[in-house]
Amino acid sequence: MRSDKVFRFWTHFSPLFALCFVAPIFVSPIWAQAPANALPAGTGRDLVAVACTQCHGLKLIMALRDGPVGWRHFVDDMILRGAQLNPEEADTVAQYLSKNLGPGTAPMQSGLKSEPLPPGDGEKLVESHCVLCHDFGRITTVARSKEEWSNTVNNMMTRAGTNIATQDEILTMASYLAAHFGKKPS
Ligand code: HEC
Ligand code: HEC
Repeated sequence: MRSDKVFRFWTHFSPLFALCFVAPIFVSPIWAQAPANALPAGTGRDLVAVACTQCHGLKLIMALRDGPVGWRHFVDDMILRGAQLNPEEADTVAQYLSKNLGPGTAPMQSGLKSEPLPPGDGEKLVESHCVLCHDFGRITTVARSKEEWSNTVNNMMTRAGTNIATQDEILTMASYLAAHFGKKPS
């Protein structure tokens, strides 16, 4: 008798039970909770853990390296998409990200084939400026004209922040890249 009652209790209430105890697991971004503690400690960490996990996991963020300008751009873009940060919090988050996931912190690995750079004028500059955020594979696997390389290098150095490279250095890098990773005439 008693076990029958218990049985009926569960058959009656299990959907409710499921709704109360299981549903919230799906409603809350569980994927965000586990890796939150993987974020390096620092001012802004908690803001990132909450405001940046409403739509996707932290993995997307942790996998990226960018400079202060690049991260600022991402943060602004995410706010346009709906990230809940006031202007002051946005500053804190951008600073936190560029400090902890910025140039020189374990560069992103593209998985692309990476070969030593051919010698030439500009090689050392590319070596010191272009592996701060990602590996060489990103560079050595593409073929671009001088103008295109110039745009890429400008874009990369802008992301990294001003004062990273002078205009002369940017031009030297673009010429070097066009000479060695240029478009083959078709
Ligand atoms: C309102 C939803 C939302 C929130 C909140 C949000 N993001 Fe995003 N995020 C997106 C979407 C959508 C994409 C995919 C964009 C795409 O593929 O173009 C994305 C992609 C990204 C990417 C990958 C971009 C790339 O091109 O590799 C990064 C990095 C990122 N978000 C960082 C953040 C940070 C930092 C925060 C917190 C400030 C944040 N996101 C909060 C919606 C959001
Ligand atoms: C401040 C960080 C940073 C530095 C320094 C940097 N990059 Fe990048 N680079 C990025 C980011 C971020 C991406 C985009 C990654 C993604 O979306 O997955 C990228 C992507 C690329 C790509 C692939 C996208 C494209 O345009 O085809 C190339 C090529 C590239 N970088 C070249 C360079 C060169 C050349 C240098 C040195 C002049 C350099 N990078 C320095 C951050 C950097």
